[in-house]
Amino acid sequence: MPRTVHVLNGPNLNLLGTREPQVYGAQTLADVQQLCERACERHGLRLVFQQSNHEGALVDAIHEAGREHAAGQLAGVVLNAGAYTHTSVALLDAIKGTGVPLIELHISNVFAREAFRHRSWISPAARAVICGLGVAGYALAIDAIAAW
Ligand code: DQA
Repeated sequence: MPRTVHVLNGPNLNLLGTREPQVYGAQTLADVQQLCERACERHGLRLVFQQSNHEGALVDAIHEAGREHAAGQLAGVVLNAGAYTHTSVALLDAIKGTGVPLIELHISNVFAREAFRHRSWISPAARAVICGLGVAGYALAIDAIAAW
């Protein structure tokens, strides 16, 4: 049975393609999903791709990944928590509480933006952080997970 990669997207990422395209580019979330599907196919991994605007739903999704982790079925998690990156102790606790191996991802280079985006509550619990590579970062994150 192939191991699973969870790609989780937080608030406003459903607007990709039309949301501030000068920052996030022209590709839609459906394009990102396709990119992730191709990357997973290349590595023989199963993809679970989700987006939610709700913090608790993202916590639930991390718990779901945690159950697969406990059962030895999880390859890893890619989390673009959007603005919750900069606010959510609940997401930090979910990652720590489940022990899921996780890559924090940002499409934009958050360090070249407003100061409030420089702080991440998630980074201390992440295995790695990718930011500023555009949506290509998603495929690179999956490549890295496949190599773990
Ligand atoms: C983001 C960066 C966050 O600061 C922002 O709130 C987002 C998207 C990114 O992918 O660059 O919603 O995570």
